[in-house]
Amino acid sequence: MAEPTTQRLFFAVWPDEGVREQLRAAQQGLPRRGGRPVHVEDIHVTLAFLGQVDEEHRACMEQAAAGVRGAAFELLIDRQGYWPRPRVAWCAPAVIPEPLRDLVHRLNRALRPCGFEPERRAYSPHVTLFRDSRAVPEGPLERPVRWPCREFVLVASGNVPGGPRYRVLARWPLADSCNEPPPCHNGEHKENERSP
Ligand code: 2AM
Repeated sequence: MAEPTTQRLFFAVWPDEGVREQLRAAQQGLPRRGGRPVHVEDIHVTLAFLGQVDEEHRACMEQAAAGVRGAAFELLIDRQGYWPRPRVAWCAPAVIPEPLRDLVHRLNRALRPCGFEPERRAYSPHVTLFRDSRAVPEGPLERPVRWPCREFVLVASGNVPGGPRYRVLARWPLADSCNEPPPCHNGEHKENERSP
């Protein structure tokens, strides 16, 4: 029997072109310490990393994501830094917006029945800018980036030598405002849009 097809998947917030350009500028502004720059079209913030997922579990996870209600938020990416163990240089928000924490929490909870094991470590949103890098100094980003986040996406990781690795598979909107206590039901939940 044929092996089930699996894909490496993750949920993320994905920048629009304007924000992507600003994050590219942040990448170019970091002191280069060797390593591989992340392709500009791959720049993102991960919400939940799913790993290898077969078709059946993917369907379950997409359905779960469609039921997650979250509020739109703004990320202020204002720090740069380095993690020695994965050897990544990153930029990140100094302050994690509450709606982002809520979104990750709700997503983790919604995905559990699909067999997802949430990350045990505290959530630490970041944009990886270089891999296999040597240390870059930690501190404020010279030009902070304001990133309005109005949707979250499901992404597949491919392997295109030299090109972007990631492909957005599906998108779900975040409500413009959410004044109700959790779960947030404020705002119309639009039809799930798929990228071509
Ligand atoms: P990184 O950017 O810090 O490397 C796709 O690989 C995305 O999922 C990347 O944003 C990556 O984070 C994250 N990721 C990859 N492997 C992971 C893991 N084992 N646990 C958590 N996140 C992971």
